[in-house]
Amino acid sequence: MSPAAEIARRRTFAIISHPDAGKTTLTEKFLLYGNAIHLAGTVTARKNQRATTSDWMELEKQRGISVSSTVLQFDYAGCAVNLLDTPGHKDFSEDTYRVLTAVDAALMVIDAGRGVQPQTRKLFEVCRRRGIPIFTFMNKCDRPTLNALALIDELESVLGLAAAPVIWPLGNGPTFRGVFDRRARAVHLFERVPGGAYEAPVNITDLNAPIVRDRLDDYTFNEVTEQLEMLDGAGHPLDLAAVHAGQQTPVYFGSAINNFGIQLLLDGFLSDSVPPQPRRNASAAAKYQVTSNTSNKNLDTADAASSRASGPVATGGGEAADSLDTCHLPLATSSSAPLATSPSALVPLEYPKFSGFIFKIQANMDPKHRDRIAFLRVCSGKFTRDMVVTHQRTGKNVRLSSSHKLFGQERETVDEAWPGDVIGLVGHDAFGIGDTLTEDRGIAYDEIPRFPPEVFAYLSNPASSDAKKYRAGLEQLLQEGVVQSFNVRHAPPGATLLAAVGPLQFEVVQWRLKSEYNAESRLESAPWTLLKWLEPHPALANPSAIIVASGVSFGTDKFGHPVVLFPNEWTMAYFKEKNPELIPHDLPLEQ
Ligand code: G4P
Repeated sequence: MSPAAEIARRRTFAIISHPDAGKTTLTEKFLLYGNAIHLAGTVTARKNQRATTSDWMELEKQRGISVSSTVLQFDYAGCAVNLLDTPGHKDFSEDTYRVLTAVDAALMVIDAGRGVQPQTRKLFEVCRRRGIPIFTFMNKCDRPTLNALALIDELESVLGLAAAPVIWPLGNGPTFRGVFDRRARAVHLFERVPGGAYEAPVNITDLNAPIVRDRLDDYTFNEVTEQLEMLDGAGHPLDLAAVHAGQQTPVYFGSAINNFGIQLLLDGFLSDSVPPQPRRNASAAAKYQVTSNTSNKNLDTADAASSRASGPVATGGGEAADSLDTCHLPLATSSSAPLATSPSALVPLEYPKFSGFIFKIQANMDPKHRDRIAFLRVCSGKFTRDMVVTHQRTGKNVRLSSSHKLFGQERETVDEAWPGDVIGLVGHDAFGIGDTLTEDRGIAYDEIPRFPPEVFAYLSNPASSDAKKYRAGLEQLLQEGVVQSFNVRHAPPGATLLAAVGPLQFEVVQWRLKSEYNAESRLESAPWTLLKWLEPHPALANPSAIIVASGVSFGTDKFGHPVVLFPNEWTMAYFKEKNPELIPHDLPLEQ
């Protein structure tokens, strides 16, 4: 298969949702379609906390939360699918945000009985800022749901996302009888059978056909007929260019637990979603062609995001046709995305030299191995095991001999990988989150966002006997990005100021120090609730002379950038008022 065909058949995505909406169940059903049935068991077991295969999972078991995230890879209908798993708990959203840098699309699962919930909204915002296409699955239609039109309205009113229903529910809860495929004009009937079996789809174009009419009570029939007429007349027609630009979401309805509507969703998603998208070369020496089919929207990370918002086949027009030989689903092949107003140097996917970036590091996933895995998204060229690449941050050449494909806890050696794939690299302690590995020193990626911390605590080691283990463990966890650390003036002796998005991240640090490094630690609360980065300013040379309210402290991040910490909003407002020359930012300025 040609490199272009290999790239075009790949789909790399994540599922985003509020906890309990059905992400785990849906993932499991997808794996069943991908014939990765043994993996489906792994997912359920993890979620149900019935079995754990490592003590890394012990914390998840105790707390009933998903802390780690992995990658599930399977083939389906000629597509090579990379499904990036994300932790569900909001305290680990930072990890989820990083994972979202490595995907090309997202599937948003909504509990149709509850509508858009807070965590979905937060994750949606991250996807929107990155400009990635979002597909929506309204789950749990077998239970009473909100009105289907109200759910569509909510996508528009709450998320500001135009919604184009592709699949429409016939009834709801006890009256749920199936779905209508608006494009194929086909009804799929749902049979409530123990074990989730359902009847084969009935391809008819008319809801009045006796077989359908018999199943629907008069009220449901009239309601659905009206709704479909309304959608045909006034709804948004599906516009793949808008979908690929992250401006419209195709909407599907179904029931994951009953395995109903899942194949329609998977087929629709894989065919209408985008193949791997090029990433921006942040290197000053960028010398690559500027792609012309980028669209620039109101994005925070406009350049990087616009690359993902580009047309569906960023590898160029010719490759799409090639891909049709290998992916048995119809692939989207054209885009009417507008030209970019801010073009960026995108590294073409089929550029022959390998490059990729690390978006996640996880240590000791398997206690049998006691190792550390760096997850890398391949962005150009072909990865081959044993290849020698440059680790951009250190400038050193490294041989990548231990590369893996990961299925939750299981792993398998990978000999080659293509843009869009995610591989796990084992045994490189120098690798950090955000690092670029490349065969071409002119390429450097800058994809990983940072997030303002919201909770703070001091960590120290109460037992001097294990000081060495404690230091080694803490250094490793900080490098993994489990939490951030800051230097502050007047910190208690021997204590490190940790900062995180959610308090459970601290618990993970303590738990892992104990279980993986056998080191005790003590956590004490720190008095701040807000941290801001400051632009460099001469006044910062003498912080004691700066007028601040009581409780405000100055410090630096790990790169030496100045920060200021506030106990509350009021002290921050006072600081701004008294020191207009010192400008606080949510995130560090470019280094
Ligand atoms: P999450 O990963 O997003 O947190 O959600 P998960 O898949 O674990 O699903 C949350 C709960 O919702 C589970 O029930 C699951 O069985 C149920 N569920 C998922 N999809 C559907 C659906 O289509 N219809 C209905 N009625 N329920 C669904 P649970 O009671 O928490 O767990 P379990 O005992 O069923 O495993």
